[in-house]
Amino acid sequence: MPIPMSSPDITEAEIAAVHQVLQTNQLSIGPQIVAFEQAMARYIGTPHAVGVNSGTSGLHLCCIATGARDGDLVITTPFSFIASANSILYERAIPIFVDVDPVTGNIDPNLVAEAVTDLMRGGAAATRWLPRHHGSIGTLKAIMPVHAFGQPADMDPINAVAAEYGLWVIEDACEAIGATYKGRKAGTLGDAAVFAFYPNKQMTTGEGGMIVTHHDDWAALFRSLRNQGRDVFDAWLNHTRLGYNYRLDELSAALGVTQLQRIEELIARRAQVAAWYHEQLADLELIERPQLRPYTTHMSWFVYVVRILPPADRNKVMQRLATAGIPSRPYFTPIHLQPFYRERFGYERGDFPVTEQLGDRSLALPFSSVMREEQVAEVVHHLRAALR
Ligand SMILES: Cc1ncc(COP(=O)(O)O)c(C=O)c1O
Repeated sequence: MPIPMSSPDITEAEIAAVHQVLQTNQLSIGPQIVAFEQAMARYIGTPHAVGVNSGTSGLHLCCIATGARDGDLVITTPFSFIASANSILYERAIPIFVDVDPVTGNIDPNLVAEAVTDLMRGGAAATRWLPRHHGSIGTLKAIMPVHAFGQPADMDPINAVAAEYGLWVIEDACEAIGATYKGRKAGTLGDAAVFAFYPNKQMTTGEGGMIVTHHDDWAALFRSLRNQGRDVFDAWLNHTRLGYNYRLDELSAALGVTQLQRIEELIARRAQVAAWYHEQLADLELIERPQLRPYTTHMSWFVYVVRILPPADRNKVMQRLATAGIPSRPYFTPIHLQPFYRERFGYERGDFPVTEQLGDRSLALPFSSVMREEQVAEVVHHLRAALR
């Protein structure tokens, strides 16, 4: 059996839960989404959780809540999955990229503070942070750090600068359910946070996402926006605002309820697989293994990403692995170097050097909670050969 890049962890309990929903006549807007949201709010420790049909739609709704619109600015990281920056563009706001910490790949809080100060000052100081091509510039509204690979961004200094200048903080926690920062759960560290449940994630609903927040008015806004702008669930013809169909269906929510009951087990299994990799890769000189910052009190392993060091070439290693039947991915490809971002904003190689170096060297290895020790050994065996 080939080793897959990722794999959902589905048991009889999940199958039974989905089967049960299929035997009812309520496949959307029913009891499962309510149960899923309540369980998630309890697990994360926020008063509100609002289910949506993807992490991307959750981030979009958070951007709407910040009030960021045409030409307004939102500070975020170029070392992420493209959805984090795209969610800002959906409101025609401008993502302001800030380079990352070379250890974690998460947004650098010192650079965030510099960017905020300069952008608030305006004029020449601000220009340094703007993309080459941009239309008219509005106001700096928010900061969106991403907890990349399941390791929290350094949130305290980010929140401090946000508080000083009255900015919102949105956590892109799509990869980090269950992670803790200085003992506090990802999802409780900003004004709102979003988790994602695509099948490669720590837990899955097929497609799906969840927004958590401590703001009552934001939770009400999210419920309305996900449901075509209705303020009341059963007022079918009364649409208060421009909304979307971002609803999470009952089948996905039932899957989510069951996966969330198993979340500690799912996260622990992934930690075990990461530990096997860590141990078996220890003697490979051209491999740098993932590193955790001391403030990461609990890592929630989403992917296992190594760095391939020179003189080895990441792309060649990836090709050799593929020839041996082992999948791997360059993760992440920097957002500012994606064709659409280059064309629209005029970004070039050299703009965010730390991100680019990580983008050139990073390689995600096959990883899931159902991976066995001998499969890890097989990947490491071929990686060793590929590096020779
Ligand atoms: C960092 C990050 N942000 C956003 C998303 C978007 O989530 P989704 O694929 O559920 O829309 C993902 C997941 O793929 C992600 O990894």
